[in-house]
Amino acid sequence: MPDLLVSLHSAKFEELRSRRHVAGVSIRPALAPEMALVVDWVREHFSDNWASEVTVAFSRHPVACIVAVENGKLLGFACYDIVARGFFGPTGVSLDARGRGVGVALLAAALEALKADGYAYAIIGDAGPADFYANAAGAIPVPAPDKGIYQGMLRRPKPASDH
Ligand SMILES: CC(C)(COP(=O)(O)OP(=O)(O)OC[C@H]1O[C@@H](n2cnc3c(N)ncnc32)[C@H](O)[C@@H]1OP(=O)(O)O)[C@@H](O)C(=O)NCCC(=O)NCCS
Repeated sequence: MPDLLVSLHSAKFEELRSRRHVAGVSIRPALAPEMALVVDWVREHFSDNWASEVTVAFSRHPVACIVAVENGKLLGFACYDIVARGFFGPTGVSLDARGRGVGVALLAAALEALKADGYAYAIIGDAGPADFYANAAGAIPVPAPDKGIYQGMLRRPKPASDH
């Protein structure tokens, strides 16, 4: 999967900023006391790797993780500046909350935080849904498909039953 580049000074980014709010949903930086809850949630809904990245996000000050909360329930999260400087991600929204604009609002809030930190561009590392980022933020593939920062990353062996 390619890395994607997003300009934080484009008309498309201004458009994205206008999608930062979702009715009834609080899109805000996570609070330090929420770490265990958010990390467990990310492990349960997504993966161990992402839970590790979220743990790093909580080691930053201010916490580099935005959460989406509705009626006291966590709907999604987005981290930034974790795997490498200027990188966006990981991000995820629970299955039952998808399609309501929460993913875009989290993206907008996290990219805004990167811009406030002085970045002119953000990188979406190893982007899964490239169309989502292209449509929401005008992201374009970085033309370096062969090697990325994740190359050689340690991974848990798959259980024998998967072979
Ligand atoms: C990608 C993800 C965060 C989007 O969250 P979401 O809350 O459903 O997204 P939104 O409701 O804000 O979607 C807004 C728009 O993006 C589109 N979209 C959503 N997911 C998409 C996808 N996987 N691919 C392409 N477009 C997508 C929606 O159709 C919608 O389009 P519209 O503005 O024309 O109506 C969510 O699908 C998810 O958690 N996926 C699994 C984890 C993942 O892949 N994370 C990204 C890793 S790089």
